[in-house]
Amino acid sequence: MAFDEVRRVVAKLESDIARGPIVPTVTPQEIQSYLAARYDFTKPLDLDDVTADVERMLRMWQVQVTHPRYFGLFNPSVTLASIIADTLVAMYNPQLATWRTSPVANEIERHTLAWLTDKFGFPANASASFTSGGTEANLSAVIVALTRAFPDYGENGLRGLSALPTIYMTAAAHHGYQKIAHMTGLGRRAIRTVATDRRMKMDLGDLARQVAADRKSGFAPFMVVGTAGTTAAGVIDPLPDLARLCGSEKLWFHADAAWGGAAIISPRLRPHLAGIDAADSITCDAHKWFSVPMGAGMFFCRHSDAVSEAFRVETLFMPEKTAAVHDPYKMSIQWSRRFIGLKLFFALAQHGESGYVEMIEHQARMGDVLRESLNRAGWRIVNTTPLPVVCFTRDGLDTAKFLAALHQRQIAWMSEVRLGDGAPAIRACITSFRTTESDIAWVVREMGRLT
Ligand SMILES: Cc1ncc(COP(=O)(O)O)c(C=O)c1O
Repeated sequence: MAFDEVRRVVAKLESDIARGPIVPTVTPQEIQSYLAARYDFTKPLDLDDVTADVERMLRMWQVQVTHPRYFGLFNPSVTLASIIADTLVAMYNPQLATWRTSPVANEIERHTLAWLTDKFGFPANASASFTSGGTEANLSAVIVALTRAFPDYGENGLRGLSALPTIYMTAAAHHGYQKIAHMTGLGRRAIRTVATDRRMKMDLGDLARQVAADRKSGFAPFMVVGTAGTTAAGVIDPLPDLARLCGSEKLWFHADAAWGGAAIISPRLRPHLAGIDAADSITCDAHKWFSVPMGAGMFFCRHSDAVSEAFRVETLFMPEKTAAVHDPYKMSIQWSRRFIGLKLFFALAQHGESGYVEMIEHQARMGDVLRESLNRAGWRIVNTTPLPVVCFTRDGLDTAKFLAALHQRQIAWMSEVRLGDGAPAIRACITSFRTTESDIAWVVREMGRLT
């Protein structure tokens, strides 16, 4: 099938978005009354009219995250190949729960995941699956780690355990772990917040002290989450030392590389992820730095026996044992599952690994350009990272007022961030492979007029 029409539409959309506003000004009431007036669903509408109307709403009433000057939370610009892939998925609607239903879709996913499994330095027999996003991948990690550490957990739950399990991470770990602690039955109070050093990396001395103190008090430490690229500031915890400590303390080491994990394919950035190959499990999102549409997370685990134990199920409507094929529903959380992996496969096939490396290194370079430009313009940079996220401030800056003006004048989308006990600062992350040096120069110049 030729996708010339999609190509044409996407190209036009990209250029329209790049020339248009980034931040909408709209109230909930405005949208609600617009919808109520047009869509009471009592009579059918013309599909072309609905399409045109919804597109118009999407143009007017959302932050344009694919805009080259969207420097926000990690919502990427998306490649044409990944858009075409998602369209094909919607058209064929394969169900990937079992291998037999969707042999080719399952094998495409496994082929794509095997490529990244190898990049992370995991063994070829490691388990890997696509997830809805990083949160599901992190949830999977906690469930597998709990099941491995406490074999009784699967049947009797936490109430069957003699000691309460505890989990360790810094305050900068993703907020999703609070919900995960709730959902798994650990409870939010099972999360131990580990101190950080002056570069905001996990302080392993404090980790060791807390683990020892908890053991002494009758808790059962079982897992440490090291973040490889914190959401707020791009900090990479000391992965090699963390791996060693977890190994000697018999703790599960999960590397949350939801955003930063894509750096593993870049020869320039890969050294910053050294030690990730020693993790027990890894989260990496394709819908962040691999620039494919949401949702596309990935969960990698070196112990596939632990994964199958954690997610084993019996159903009345499925044969207990299928032939020697991989049935994803027995190795992960989801049953009905979309063909998530096709967008990464498609984009990799079109751009090749070298094209992807170029895209990722371009964004890292734009991060450096932004950092240097802000420095030259008198801003103070308050984070240190090789990843393209820059947190900055200036004496006396009113961040809320500054951001309101930045957005109102459609200069760029940035957000407020609080790092440790510091005052609020501005966070700007290069999330688009289309952001250029001239975008950055223009933004920094315009920002100077606001202060
Ligand atoms: C480090 C980290 N982990 C996990 C997540 C959650 O991923 P998702 O939004 O795909 O659920 C994020 C999201 O920003 C993240 O930055």
